[in-house]
Amino acid sequence: MKVIRVKNQTQGADVALGILRDKLAQGDKTLGLATGSSPEAFYQAIVKSDLDLSQVTSINLDEYVGLPKESPQSYHYFMEEHLFKYKPMKAHFLPDGQAADLLQAAKDYDHLIEQYGLDLQILGIGRNGHIGFNEPGTDFSSLTHVVDLTPSTIEANSRFFDKQEEVPTQALSMGIASIMSAKSIILFAYGSEKAKAISGMVQGPVSPSLPASVLQNHPDVTVIVDEAAASLLK
Ligand code: GLP
Repeated sequence: MKVIRVKNQTQGADVALGILRDKLAQGDKTLGLATGSSPEAFYQAIVKSDLDLSQVTSINLDEYVGLPKESPQSYHYFMEEHLFKYKPMKAHFLPDGQAADLLQAAKDYDHLIEQYGLDLQILGIGRNGHIGFNEPGTDFSSLTHVVDLTPSTIEANSRFFDKQEEVPTQALSMGIASIMSAKSIILFAYGSEKAKAISGMVQGPVSPSLPASVLQNHPDVTVIVDEAAASLLK
């Protein structure tokens, strides 16, 4: 794992944009994308850049169960507002959190991931070390699945909703095995509330109790952190 310390999200976005440029030049065609505040500056940097993504397909990590795509809190909406409406891409996919048959939707998503393959995967990290919505305890061999969100994730994500009761309690998330299948990975983490998860991920034991620790087993991971998120690193 390569840890790069940056002053702020703008600088982190520049570092990641440089990696993306290199990877696209090397032939990357499929991006795994993440939502949340951590990759926001990166998406802004892509939007401002001259990068041509018209031949690139994106496959997002996760979506809440039950939220309509038009809901401002849905990850469909987030991606549309932060990236898709500004940068034409060949195709983009997110899990269908409104599917009548969620198990079938999960299987279909795995098919899609298999068909395209993931080149560069973008990640944030939850305070409890989750990646995507793979909460602590998720098997490292997991594929796309329905997740019961933990109280700490519901609480953390409630800042995007009017009331905590409005936060969906379930999500459809790409699994850990799929994330690990990406050829390379960039993970962003900013702020002191991520410090514990980052130290566990980088220097703790590899264990499902901190899902992001699995990234220690991946050959090409770049972790972009500010000083606050890196504060517990040796
Ligand atoms: C959610 C998302 C994750 C994201 C995490 C952290 O739970 N499912 O993909 O990494 O939040 O979000 P933030 O970057 O806003 O701290």
